[in-house]
Amino acid sequence: MRDELPLAHNTSIITGASSGIGWALAQQLAHRGHTLYLLARREAPLLACLETLQQRYPKGNFHVLPGDLIDPRQRHGVLTRLRTAIGTSSVDAIIHCAGTGLPAANLADWHPDDLSDALQLNTVVPLALVNMLLPCMTPLPVPCRIVLVGAGIDRHVQRGTGSYGVSKMAMRRLFEQLHEELTSQPAEIALMQPGVVDTPGLRQHIRTARAMKLPHADYLQTQLDTGQAFSAETVGERLATLLDVSTSQASFSGREWRTAEIYSNEGG
Ligand SMILES: NC(=O)c1ccc[n+]([C@@H]2O[C@H](COP(=O)([O-])OP(=O)(O)OC[C@H]3O[C@@H](n4cnc5c(N)ncnc54)[C@H](OP(=O)(O)O)[C@@H]3O)[C@@H](O)[C@H]2O)c1
Repeated sequence: MRDELPLAHNTSIITGASSGIGWALAQQLAHRGHTLYLLARREAPLLACLETLQQRYPKGNFHVLPGDLIDPRQRHGVLTRLRTAIGTSSVDAIIHCAGTGLPAANLADWHPDDLSDALQLNTVVPLALVNMLLPCMTPLPVPCRIVLVGAGIDRHVQRGTGSYGVSKMAMRRLFEQLHEELTSQPAEIALMQPGVVDTPGLRQHIRTARAMKLPHADYLQTQLDTGQAFSAETVGERLATLLDVSTSQASFSGREWRTAEIYSNEGG
């Protein structure tokens, strides 16, 4: 924990905040005193997270906005409520952790709708968030920091993971495009590649991929069994460090970060 460090980012928006990496990050930022707007698909887990945060940090300022961000109508509703809740406040950090991409046993079972859903959540949603929040990004004391959580699979073609891989590759391209487009805005953007992380999402993915007899299921299970996967807590802590003012703008901006690099760059 590095809560003695100075904080520049006080109002943060996290998607995918009810589970895995997003929830670990939410706890880190709550501990560091951030006002948090937490988005996830299902309401019940999100409310449970809110209750946990409120119990731990009774003086904290936490908001939850449930809704399926793939569904255009629900997305519009969530984003409208978010914009209203933020009002005239400035937004200091946006972290897009929500992600999807169902495996497919073979080409015949690879449904185009699955790819469409993955493209929605992994690219359209972060663009919609950034667009809507542009007026809330203010130049001082430091620009708003945006982090897209990608996946190493984007450049690693493997059978059965087309929706996930193609959409994460599109996310990488979106990151590059936003880096260019944001040069005239008080905002900067980075891509986070977390590596293999022990989360409910990963464990569910392994179960599904194993049932489909996809070979990468065994690789991922071995990563978990041999302790080679990161914990969600580790990744949440590194992400919080990445958002901290001690990571200079020059090194944060436009960069692809890996979990293992963050402390070494920060000397921690
Ligand atoms: N775990 C890994 O090994 C790993 C590796 C590389 C990259 N990543 C990336 O890291 C990010 C977080 O992964 P994780 O393993 O922490 O996942 P996770 O445990 O499955 O959590 C996913 C979060 O996203 C939310 N979400 C999913 N679909 C949504 C939708 N349609 N609308 C709104 N929210 C939605 C979930 O809410 P509900 O639970 O209510 O659906 C949940 O809060 C993802 O982008 C993933 O691709 C993970």
